[in-house]
Amino acid sequence: MMNLVPANVTHLDSVVQLEKATFPDDAISKRSFRRFIESNTADFFVMLNDKRVVGYYVVLFRNNTNLARLYALVLSPQFRGKGLGKQLLQHAEDRADLRHSLFLRTEVATSNQIAQQLFINAGFRAVELREAYFPPSTSQSQDALILQKLLPRYELGEDNSVGATERYVPMMTQSTEFTCGPASLLMALDYFGRPTADASQEELEIWREATTIYMTSGHGGCGPHGLARAAFKRGLSVRVAVNTDDALFIDSVRQEQKKEVMQRIQQADIDYLHRHGVTIDVCDYGVAELKADLGAGKLILALISTYHFDGVRAPHWVLICAADDDFIYINDPDYDTLPWESPTERQYLPIPIATFNKAFGFGGRKQKAAVIVGRVD
Ligand SMILES: CC(C)(COP(=O)(O)OP(=O)(O)OC[C@H]1O[C@@H](n2cnc3c(N)ncnc32)[C@H](O)[C@@H]1OP(=O)(O)O)[C@@H](O)C(=O)NCCC(=O)NCCS
Repeated sequence: MMNLVPANVTHLDSVVQLEKATFPDDAISKRSFRRFIESNTADFFVMLNDKRVVGYYVVLFRNNTNLARLYALVLSPQFRGKGLGKQLLQHAEDRADLRHSLFLRTEVATSNQIAQQLFINAGFRAVELREAYFPPSTSQSQDALILQKLLPRYELGEDNSVGATERYVPMMTQSTEFTCGPASLLMALDYFGRPTADASQEELEIWREATTIYMTSGHGGCGPHGLARAAFKRGLSVRVAVNTDDALFIDSVRQEQKKEVMQRIQQADIDYLHRHGVTIDVCDYGVAELKADLGAGKLILALISTYHFDGVRAPHWVLICAADDDFIYINDPDYDTLPWESPTERQYLPIPIATFNKAFGFGGRKQKAAVIVGRVD
């Protein structure tokens, strides 16, 4: 009778023995295992067969990130090949899911075909090959495959409020400080089956089409109408939601002549959208509306103010990928990542709904802009 329980000190010797037998050159130390028992940012479970340890796993969590790391997963040789490894992995995933992790990541030696098969079958994807990752060893390759799984937090709710499980919006990082809008649109295009061969060139093309900057005036990039126009031209179904009929983002522009040019650019985009039957809703687009759109399979480009995240009042386009009762999940194309962050941590970034409500909208008048995109039926 197999039993999965949190590890305690009485299990330590058996775990260390099994670890050393499995990875003679690169075993996790007893001290580390002891630390995992005590840590509240680690899940360390053992599988017992009549009180004897036959397997274990360790998942590490880091505060303030949505990434969980499967650090160890081992089964005693005589118990392999019976589906118990799969069971351990499922348990680890469930625990990570309980902690609101969005991704589970692990590193496997490229030579470890069995483990790779186990992870791939469980829905992991290879995201990176890292050379010379493990120390020199006689038993396994030094190169590691980084495998990652998006945990199933997005099952379609009864009220359709949450994105579908298979929703996996790819991540793209903007390559300039003013192309957050184009990068967000490129992620959506990729997701809706219209990927771009040369993304960095297309990023600039979209920016040229959609920008409302005039002679370094106003906000730093694309407007909603211009982005909607670029999305429409590239074959997506599009709707614009803005909370005002006024010209957007010109409050901070001092010169009248520049103001006027920016208004004309915006008007030209609006005229184009009208000519092509693209809806421009002047409404207070909020969380309820965006959840309904997500439920209908759409993605939403939203202009947020970054003030609530980094103290700088800059308008910033992000792509909203999913929502639930607690969070709005965004792909944030920002390239200004902190050294310990990776693009993965900006993918499905959970923003508490209260924070999102404060951040959605820009300027003293809190002008809201969203571009709702989807597949053409
Ligand atoms: C990896 C490990 C945990 C798998 O445990 P297991 O109980 O043998 O695996 P399961 O019986 O649950 O099988 C799960 C999947 O692994 C793969 N697998 C297991 N044994 C395999 C074998 N001999 N050949 C090829 N694939 C195999 C299969 O994909 C299998 O899925 P399937 O049954 O649907 O085909 C176990 O082999 C182990 O402890 N290995 C040493 C430590 C290690 O490499 N850990 C992973 C990296 S840290």
